[in-house]
Amino acid sequence: MIDTTVFDNAPLCEPERQYYFIDHASSLRLKKESELGHPMTFHVTTFGCQMNARDSEKMTGILSNIGFTETDSETEADVVLFNTCTIRDNANQKFYGHLGSLGGKNAKNPDRIVIVCGCMVQESECTNRLKESYDFVKIVFGTHNIYKLAELMFCYLNKGDRIFDVWDKPGEIVEDIPSIRKYPFKSGVNIMFGCNNYCTYCIVPYVRGNERSRASDEILRECAHLAQDGVKEIMLLGQNVNSYGNGIKDEMTFPKLLKEVEKIDGIKRIRFMTSHPKDLSDELINIMRDSDKICRHIHLPLQSGSTRILTAMNRRYTKEQYVDLALKIRDRIPGVSITTDIIVGFPGETTEDIDDTVDVIRKVKFDGAFTFVYSPRTGTPAAKMEGFKDPDWIRREFDRVLTAVQDESKEMAARFTGRIESVLVEEVNEKDVGFLSGRMSNNLMVHFPGDPSLIGSILDVKLNECRGFYYIGETV
Ligand code: SAH
Ligand code: SF4
Ligand code: F3S
Repeated sequence: MIDTTVFDNAPLCEPERQYYFIDHASSLRLKKESELGHPMTFHVTTFGCQMNARDSEKMTGILSNIGFTETDSETEADVVLFNTCTIRDNANQKFYGHLGSLGGKNAKNPDRIVIVCGCMVQESECTNRLKESYDFVKIVFGTHNIYKLAELMFCYLNKGDRIFDVWDKPGEIVEDIPSIRKYPFKSGVNIMFGCNNYCTYCIVPYVRGNERSRASDEILRECAHLAQDGVKEIMLLGQNVNSYGNGIKDEMTFPKLLKEVEKIDGIKRIRFMTSHPKDLSDELINIMRDSDKICRHIHLPLQSGSTRILTAMNRRYTKEQYVDLALKIRDRIPGVSITTDIIVGFPGETTEDIDDTVDVIRKVKFDGAFTFVYSPRTGTPAAKMEGFKDPDWIRREFDRVLTAVQDESKEMAARFTGRIESVLVEEVNEKDVGFLSGRMSNNLMVHFPGDPSLIGSILDVKLNECRGFYYIGETV
């Protein structure tokens, strides 16, 4: 029977409304479990960046609060949630392939509730495809209403109809949604949502909406709460953290916010992601230099080393400005690691432009870089530009960039050999159970013998041997 009184009595304010729906969805879950004869499980699969990872922690919190039990098995779970990414087309194709293979297995469990949300869903092409070709997908929502998962789950359990609820604009920022962290000792914290930069290749502003900063007192309250809950490392998240504070009432900037987070007892390490080179201030560099807690790592996406291509990308810095900035950071913050993102095959790019990119790689000596093949995204200005590159050219130039990156980063990684570094122990080594894996302040990993009880602690580890991009070490 469909219950409409639940809606009539629902609070209008958030997050109270969602806590109310968590309770009511929980009652319907119990009913469903008695029909099925077993407790219902859920699995969340996340694609994409740290933003999505953090959103998934919130949705894991909501599903757990409804009373579903988390399971490792995507194919066995009663509720399967996919949090999608659409930054490049291969991400989309991978997802459809994955979903298709799940659909085949779904025949065994027609009661399964498959949910798709996240960035891909913000594109109408994707929503239509899910509607028409994947009828086993029951609930679909975008990036702006993830906090409403409990309400949507209640509607589905109540009525059984497929739900498509995708907003084309962000609504209010809803605070205090439950979340369950993947790691007990570290956490991402959103400081802003969306992006206003409109780099011409990028879909993010269209699928995540305009840039909105969270109130600083809410951010600090969340950080303090996480510290009380055992979190030692916080990563402040935004598409361009350097423009934090635009458009909010309190006079807060990103460097000032860092100083406030630093005052919180229990927080031992602070990271942030991502910094747009055009807005990275001297004040930020000096605060990093003087801080004991801010990690020695800046991810500073270059995208291209050619000023001509950077202009076409709307990045708003030149090759020289980027190199000067990176070298200034290296000079002022000893031991800092600088990582980057590079795109190869932007429309109209030439071999001379790639020469410039390689030149920047050689000058800055990146500690690490993600290199991507340009992928045209529908609705972005670059997708309409002329001069698409052919696959052979891309393969050749991509290899050239990759080789330069690997040469430099191997050499950079090895410069710490023999040093003792403070390491946050993250997990048991995947390949060797006698070993633990930990991360240094500069974001490099070290593997060393140790007991799993040490996970979550910060230890001094001697870096005995560099193996390319990681170290083998021992505790001291
Ligand atoms: N806000 C971050 C980037 C987020 S997207 C910043 O501005 O630095 C992560 C990376 O994906 C980008 O840095 C870029 O290198 C890459 N990327 C984005 N759109 C792309 C596209 N259309 N094709 C290939 N790579 C892309
Ligand atoms: Fe995309 Fe540019 Fe915004 Fe980064 S800054 S998310 S690359 S538009
Ligand atoms: Fe992907 Fe969305 Fe992040 S498109 S990279 S998950 S903001």
